[in-house]
Amino acid sequence: MAELCRRAFLSRNKRSRVTAESQLYYTTPSRVACVGAEIGELVDNRSLPTNMLASKTVTQLSRSMGTLPQRSNMSSLKNRLQELIPIKAAEIKKIKEEHGEKIIGTCTVSQAYGGMRSVKSLITETSLLDAEEGIRYRGLSLPECQQQLPKAKGGEEPLPEGVLWLLLTGEVPTQAQVQEVTADLQSRAKVQDWVLKLIKDLPPDMHPMTKLNIGINALQTDSGFAKAYQEGLHKSKYWDHTYEDSLNLIARLPIIAAAIYRSTYKDGKLVPVDPKLDWSANYARMLGFNDPKIDEMMRLYLFLHADHEGGNVSAHTTHLVGSALSDPYLSLAAGMNGLAGPLHGLANQEVLRWTLDLKKKLGDKPVTNEQLSKAVWDTLNAGQVVPGFGHAVLRKTDPRYMAQREFAQKHLPNDPLFKLVSQIYDVVPGVLTEHGKTKNPYPNVDAHSGVLLQYFGLKEENYYTVLFGVSRALGVLPSLVWDRALGFPIERPKSITTEWVKKWAATAK
Ligand SMILES: CC(C)(COP(=O)(O)OP(=O)(O)OC[C@H]1O[C@@H](n2cnc3c(N)ncnc32)[C@H](O)[C@@H]1OP(=O)(O)O)[C@@H](O)C(=O)NCCC(=O)NCCS
Repeated sequence: MAELCRRAFLSRNKRSRVTAESQLYYTTPSRVACVGAEIGELVDNRSLPTNMLASKTVTQLSRSMGTLPQRSNMSSLKNRLQELIPIKAAEIKKIKEEHGEKIIGTCTVSQAYGGMRSVKSLITETSLLDAEEGIRYRGLSLPECQQQLPKAKGGEEPLPEGVLWLLLTGEVPTQAQVQEVTADLQSRAKVQDWVLKLIKDLPPDMHPMTKLNIGINALQTDSGFAKAYQEGLHKSKYWDHTYEDSLNLIARLPIIAAAIYRSTYKDGKLVPVDPKLDWSANYARMLGFNDPKIDEMMRLYLFLHADHEGGNVSAHTTHLVGSALSDPYLSLAAGMNGLAGPLHGLANQEVLRWTLDLKKKLGDKPVTNEQLSKAVWDTLNAGQVVPGFGHAVLRKTDPRYMAQREFAQKHLPNDPLFKLVSQIYDVVPGVLTEHGKTKNPYPNVDAHSGVLLQYFGLKEENYYTVLFGVSRALGVLPSLVWDRALGFPIERPKSITTEWVKKWAATAK
C-alpha cells in the first residue's frame, strides 16, 4: 500500500528529486502541511475505512518517504502525535483550498482600538472558549474532562499529564498512557545546579514571576531546538525539536517553581523529585507539602489553568514569539511575562490581597453585605478594578471558578475565607451591574484559587501566579508544537495609524 501511494505520488510530481524529504516538503508552498496534505489525499483516494486506519497508513507512508524521523524508543504520545500531524495538515490544506477566501470575521474601528476583542484571526487547536459555557479542552468541557480523564490512585481530579495528552492529540488517554507520560516527565526532570543556584541567589524581594522568567531563560541554554536550528534544521523537523524542548520544559518547570518558593519564602533547601509521584504530587512535595488533599488540589489547579484558547495574553504571546522561531523556552518566558500582568494571571494575587485587606479593615466580626458592597464601590470609585471579576470573552461565572468552589464545598466547607469569598460572589455581580461598565460582572478563575491555596498553607500570594504559569505551559506549549507541525508562518498583522483611520473614514460609506 505504502509503495503504491509513493509511486502514485512521485509520478504526479515532475520535479527533479533532491531528497525524498525536501522534494515532498517543497511540493507546494514550503509547509510541512503540504507533505501531509499530499499523502492524506493519496490515502483518501483509496477510500480507507476510518481515520485511524488512515492515520496508521499515513504514518507508515510518511516514514517510508522520509518525511518523518525514524525513531526507536519513541513515547506513545510522540508516536501518536506523529501519526496525527499529516492528517491534520491534509485537513487544513483542504479547508484552505475550499474555503480559503471566505470571510470568517471582520474588524471594526472600535475593535482595532479596543484590544481586537472578538476578532477571529488566530488558529489555536487545543481549546475553544464559549462566552456562556466556558472553556472546552479539545471539545471537552471541564466537567467532562473531570469525568473522562484518568485520575491518580484514590484521587478524583484529573491528572494534568492526561490534560497534556488531550491537548496535544485531541484524544482522551488511557491510564497506561498517562502513566507513561508521568514516567517520561520524571526522566526529563533534571535542572542543572547552576540554574538552581542562580535562582537561590536572586534577591528575596524580587517578584516570583520575575524569578520564573529568569529561571526559564536560564533553562534555555538546554534548548535542542535552538541548537539544531544553528546546525541547520529542516522545516519538517521543527515540531520534533519543539516537542522535545516542550516536554523537557514541562518536566523541569515544577523544579524551577519549587526552587523559587523554597528560596524566597523558606529555608532554601530543595526537595528532590520523587520518582513514585505524579507531576502534581511531586510539585506539591517539592514546595514542601505532604498531604494527599494538597496533591488533589494541585491536580485540580494545574488542570484548570492549563489553557483558555489562543487569544489571551499568555497564549497569544507564546504563539507570537514562537512564530519568529524563537525556541520554546524563549517563547514560554515571553508568555509568562504576559501572565504576570494584573489584568491576566497576576489577578489571583490581587484577589487575595483585596480580600485580606478587606478582612483587616473590617476586623474578625462577620462582614455584612452592606459593608462588602461599600468596599466594592470604594474600589470602583478609586478608579481600580475589582480583581477576579469580569472577563474579555466569558459572560457567565467561569466554570473554573465553579470547579474550585465545588472542591471547597467538598474539602473546606467551613473555612472562613471560603465563606467570605462566597459572600463576595453574592454581592459583587450586583454592584458591577449597577456600576454599568463591566460587560461580565461574574467571577473568573482567579477569584477562587487563593482560598484553596491559603487553606492548605500556601500563604504567600505573590507566588500564586507561578502556579498558574506552571499549569499554563500545558496548554501553550502543545499549541507551539502544532504551530511548528503545521508550518504556521511568522505572525504579522497589519497595524494602522489614526491618520490612516481618519482618511479611510472620510471615504468610507
Ligand atoms: C478581565 C478584564 C481585563 C477584561 O477586560 P475587558 O474585556 O476590557 O472587560 P469589559 O469589556 O467588561 O470592560 C469594560 C469596562 O469595564 C471595566 N471593568 C471590567 N472588569 C472590571 C472589574 N472587575 N472591576 C472594575 N471594572 C471593570 C473595564 O476596566 C472597562 O472600563 P473602561 O471602559 O473604563 O476601560 C477585566 O474584566 C478586569 O480588569 N478584571 C479584573 C482583573 C481580573 O480579574 N483579571 C483576570 C481575568 S481572567
